[in-house]
Amino acid sequence: MPAQIIDGKALAAAVKAEAAAECATLIARGVQPCLAVVLVGEDPASQVYVKGKVNDCAQCGIKSLEHRLPESTTQDRLLALVGRLAADPAVHGILVQLPLPAHIDGQAVINAIPPEKDVDGFSPVNVGRMQLGQPCYLPCTPAGCLRMIESTGTDLCGRHAVVVGRSNIVGKPMAMLLLAADATVTVCHSKTQNLAEICQSADILVAAVGRQGFITGDMVRPGAVVIDVGINRGADGKLHGDVDFAAAAEKAAFLTPVPGGVGPMTRAMLMKNTTRAAARQNGIEL
Ligand code: GUN
Repeated sequence: MPAQIIDGKALAAAVKAEAAAECATLIARGVQPCLAVVLVGEDPASQVYVKGKVNDCAQCGIKSLEHRLPESTTQDRLLALVGRLAADPAVHGILVQLPLPAHIDGQAVINAIPPEKDVDGFSPVNVGRMQLGQPCYLPCTPAGCLRMIESTGTDLCGRHAVVVGRSNIVGKPMAMLLLAADATVTVCHSKTQNLAEICQSADILVAAVGRQGFITGDMVRPGAVVIDVGINRGADGKLHGDVDFAAAAEKAAFLTPVPGGVGPMTRAMLMKNTTRAAARQNGIEL
């Protein structure tokens, strides 16, 4: 039986409706939730992502402040901007779109975002809190993936989850979240031996490699839940995931599409993190 497609847009709409309700509560209490989005340079994919985030803010009633800086921006100028946003009590969340140009030390910029405004969950304090199982801002993509897995009704306890990719943004935090949900987790990467064999034993397979069609049909265990984080522009000009969709759909029980899967969920989780940040910074319980 072909896989059920996990509708990221519909799930994201439900999460955004929660964020919109929280936003309305905050506005009624005199707080206008506000997200500052910083984009350095002209990377086409980043421009699309930032536009999506700004649109989602508008849908939820969150104010967004867009700061677009030229590719040539120095690290000092960017740090100065982040410092101003950090000190501005009307700004509740700060998001610096990654990747940054090569001449800028991205970690130094992330370190400058105060943990309470780090709605991406990338700062060392939030990463550490997540690792320790303490309250924190969860990184949006892995948090969205987890919501999608949960939406299938899959019980993660004791199941084998395989994460392909070990980035700080997706792979590593995804593995931590799955572990916290009692899955048995294997993290694979470009140097992994027997990749196909490991993937074939996955009850849950999360692909976050950044290479079109990297996960082939033979790597998918029959009945698996397959989450495709990849967004790759193909030679055909269209967006493709890391998973060979048609082949995986023949084997998986559940599968996310690209586009319309993880992407919308990532942005929806960002909206939730922003309303939570606004609430916390104003001593309001949602
Ligand atoms: N680049 C790709 N994904 C993300 C994300 O979730 N947040 C930021 N800031 N940049 C990204």
